[in-house]
Amino acid sequence: MSATKRSIRVPPHLACRDILTSYMSADSKTFYLETFGCQMNAHDSEKVVGTLVHEGYRQVETVEEAGLVLYNTCSIRDKAEQKVFNRLNDYKKYHKQGKKFGVLGCVAQQEGEKIFERAPYVALVCGSASYQNLPQMLKQLDAAPSAARAPFDEASSRSPALSPAGGGISRTTGASGVSPLVRITGLDDRETDKCFETEFTARTNPHRGYVTIIEGCDKFCAYCVVPYTRGKERSRTSESVLAEARQMADLGYTEIQLLGQNVNSYKDSAGNSAHRKTFAELLAAVAEVPGIRRVRFTTSHPRDFGRDIIDAIDAVPTLCDHVHLPVQSGSDRVLNAMQRLYTRAQYLERIAWMKSAKRDISITTDTIVGFPGETDNDFADTLSLLDEVGYDAVFAFKYSPRPNTPALNLEDAIPDEEKARRLDVLMTKQREIQSASYKKYVGTTCEVLVEGRNQARQQWLGRTTQNKTLNFTAPDSAPPELGSYANVHITTSFANSLVGELVV
Ligand code: 5AD
Ligand code: SF4
Repeated sequence: MSATKRSIRVPPHLACRDILTSYMSADSKTFYLETFGCQMNAHDSEKVVGTLVHEGYRQVETVEEAGLVLYNTCSIRDKAEQKVFNRLNDYKKYHKQGKKFGVLGCVAQQEGEKIFERAPYVALVCGSASYQNLPQMLKQLDAAPSAARAPFDEASSRSPALSPAGGGISRTTGASGVSPLVRITGLDDRETDKCFETEFTARTNPHRGYVTIIEGCDKFCAYCVVPYTRGKERSRTSESVLAEARQMADLGYTEIQLLGQNVNSYKDSAGNSAHRKTFAELLAAVAEVPGIRRVRFTTSHPRDFGRDIIDAIDAVPTLCDHVHLPVQSGSDRVLNAMQRLYTRAQYLERIAWMKSAKRDISITTDTIVGFPGETDNDFADTLSLLDEVGYDAVFAFKYSPRPNTPALNLEDAIPDEEKARRLDVLMTKQREIQSASYKKYVGTTCEVLVEGRNQARQQWLGRTTQNKTLNFTAPDSAPPELGSYANVHITTSFANSLVGELVV
């Protein structure tokens, strides 16, 4: 997923007084935040923005306008990580103007204090498991002199006196003895039991919003950095999730997407054990909140994916007809080497549950090509799985070796050109599958949530319950309202989207 720039929607309890205070405060209390990576990161950024606004900061749209420049980073693959360092390198000139830089998220957690060596002008490095300490870190950062007042001596800061292990604040004095650099770290909380819960989430979309139900991951798939960067699994209580869902419904949200690295291993820790909910029960409960018309969830792990989830989708119409179930490979040998802890047959059993549901559930997946030791036969198994399942979308990635992960020690690396070839073969096959399967919707009518307008194409943009993009025209005399639900008659299909006309 590409980098995203987002505007904010401030919750009402933050509105008048807090916002006024923040707008009136000094210019140095402006921030620019760029987000890289997955939906979890996008949602973390919404919470970080809310926290900063509550602390008196104001969000701006460009680096030039900002006193504080923040990157919420992703390290799932090498390319994503590289983007962050390129960005830091491009913008180091701004340090001389007194701007402060902070690196948040997965690269922060993974690289830790080494970031200060690669980008010595960075003042804050904070992993996602430490976000609850952001207000204190921001106060320390605010109190620190900026480079405009304390000229930065790059050469002298190559081997800094680092922050106290795991987290804290340190001052590094340059050779000249006059350039104190403050380095604030939040890196020590990967063993935390706490989730980043805040009432100050600044959601970017007024109609559909994310709600985190579980953070971290205990699965330790052989290729994946997430358990190292996001820490151990910890769930919010169902009471707190439901309270947030009700609050969102009161604010006018109609679609909620429940988030976690592995939502299926959700474990409710509600105070009263009689009130504890399974994941499927939580899904149904959120979907029954008055005012909520659509509930989605991502991401699922096949190992923890229970039949009760399909039963819930069948029973509760507001649960969307879509399951994203990453398979990663169609070969048992590779699944075993990846430490996914399920077989192709077990995965297909879950697919069979979905296909036998009363509703037409759209199924999407993630795959990795070129995992160490993946033979032509293994790859052929992944291709045959695509045929067998008939996915509505496949997110395919070339295997990228990641620090600390067990797969780093595996032999038989696949050359990059071969990974690229396999990726191309896989995507071509999947495009054919989708072109054929999307055709079956032509002539039918689907309900969409109206999400936008493409002025150039004179089309409205909608999304179906199956999470398919449906672009449609509407008479000028009856334009649909953004955020409303509308019925659209489908006239044309492509491999990744549908086209239709508003039913008036
Ligand atoms: N290399 C390539 N793809 C990866 N993913 C996770 N780690 C790696 C890696 N090291 C993919 C998986 C996962 C998705 C979010 O990213 O397919 O489901
Ligand atoms: Fe990574 Fe596996 Fe956890 Fe998903 S389940 S976040 S792929 S370790």
